[in-house]
Order: sequence, then structure tokens, then C-alpha cells
Amino acid sequence: MITHFLTGEELTAEELRGVIERALELKADRLSSRALEGKSVALVFEKPSTRTRVSFETGVHELGGHAVVLREGELQLARGESPRDTALVLSRMVHAIGIRTGPHEVVVEVAEHASVPVINLLTRDHHPCQGLADMTTLRERFGTLDGLKLAYVGDGNNVARSLLVAGALAGVDVAVASPPELSLPGVPVVEPTEAVRGAHAVYTDVWVSMGDEEDAARRRALLAPYRLDDELLQRARPDALAMHCLPAHPGEEISAAVLYGERSAAWVQAENRLHAQKALLELLLGS
Ligand code: CP
Repeated sequence: MITHFLTGEELTAEELRGVIERALELKADRLSSRALEGKSVALVFEKPSTRTRVSFETGVHELGGHAVVLREGELQLARGESPRDTALVLSRMVHAIGIRTGPHEVVVEVAEHASVPVINLLTRDHHPCQGLADMTTLRERFGTLDGLKLAYVGDGNNVARSLLVAGALAGVDVAVASPPELSLPGVPVVEPTEAVRGAHAVYTDVWVSMGDEEDAARRRALLAPYRLDDELLQRARPDALAMHCLPAHPGEEISAAVLYGERSAAWVQAENRLHAQKALLELLLGS
């Protein structure tokens, strides 16, 4: 039975498929579950967020629970209280802890000392809630995950890593094309045109992630050949989706024509954060 959700690897393949199917049930009947009745969830944001913040706060509410949102600077963490002590205290007050921060080690430390489930809301290394929602979007669009190919083109970042984790569990073939300087360790380097061949979806993410601002010029130069535009999308399957976890920079990592075009799944992906995370919360906290 899953305790924490830090990388996505905590789920079995069967559990992942169960969460995806449950997410689609909850999407079809949004207020049908009260799984969090009488329960509170602390949501700690040490970094900005639109989708994760709103989808978790709304999702906890829709499940009958109460979300305690704690933004950067509001906890004593900002004044040096340790992740360990924060975990020990929050565990005595709430039924789960979600945390968005920089170093992945902070989330791991919180989980080591918490006696309630801990959910990674994004770290430098992983974004498992995004991967979960994206597998839900693929399942919704294609009716199955079996035999699907997803091509990720761009920075070898936390989202790319979480797509590889979720894809491996879900049975989706994930090909990653990144510049060698920005590729994930241990992931073979392929050209964008090779990655997208036969793909059911072509995915990209921002070129300058939170924390990379000082390296922006070098990143933009390295990633320029990796833009998701109509020319690249046309090399995938004729029914291929264009995917982006957002926020986007139209004209940079993705063309405006693709982001706002009829093949874009970006807005459905954002919505599916809500449904997928509600299903995850049910699994972690449901009686
Ligand atoms: N995709 C994503 O995590 O969006 P936010 O940073 O707005 O939460």
C-alpha cells in the first residue's frame, strides 16, 4: 500500500492504472466523492504555482476536506526550522502534507519524519503529479495506454524525468530528445525528428525552469533546435497531441500556433491535474 508520493515510483503499475481510471470517473461526476470528509491537508509552496496550487486546493475542497495553504515565507521553515521538525509538527495536525520546494532532499526528509502521507508538489528533480495527470490525459484521449508512444522534446528536467517514471509504469514508450548538455543522466540522446517518429503525443516544457534564470541565455541557444512547432508535430502521427505542462512561453519552446491549435492538449492537461490528484488523495487518504 502506497504511503508517500515523492517520485511516482511508489505506485505499482496496477495502482497507477487504478488512479487513472478513478480520475476519469471523478471527472465525469465531479462531486461524487467525500473521501476527505473531516480531513485536512497542508499544502506548502516554497515556489510559485498556478495549476498545482489551485488544483490541490480545489480538489481537497471537492472531496469534503480542508486545505491549509502555506506560501513561501509563511512557515518557520523560512527562518531555519528544519524539514524534520516541520514534518513532526504538521503530522500532529493534518492528515497529509503536500510540498513544493527546490531540493528533492527536502521532500525526502519531510517524508522520513512525517507520520502522514507526503506528496511531492514539484522539486528540482521530480514532478510526479504532472506525470500522473499526463498519463490520464493520454488514456482519456486514446482510450488506452497500451502501445502509446510519447516524445518529450526539450530540457531534460523534472517533468521529463517524471514522464519517464510514469510512462514506464503505465506501459507508455517515452522517448526523450534533449541537447547533450541538458539531457537526463542515463537517458539516450536522440534527435527531435527521431523521437517524434510514430509518436501519439509530442511534449515540451519551458526552457528556463525555476532556478535556471542565470543560465537563461545558454539554455535558449542550446534548445533553439528543439522547439515544438507545426513542422515537428507533422513528423509525429497524424492524430498526435501537442502537450505542455504549462506555464508556456509561446514562440520559445512551443509555437503559438501549436499551443493554441486544435491538437493542443495543454488545457486538458491542466484540468486533469485536478481529477488525477483527487484520485491520488483518495488512494492515500480514503478509508
Ligand atoms: N505545471 C505546473 O506544475 O504548473 P504550476 O507551476 O502553475 O503549478
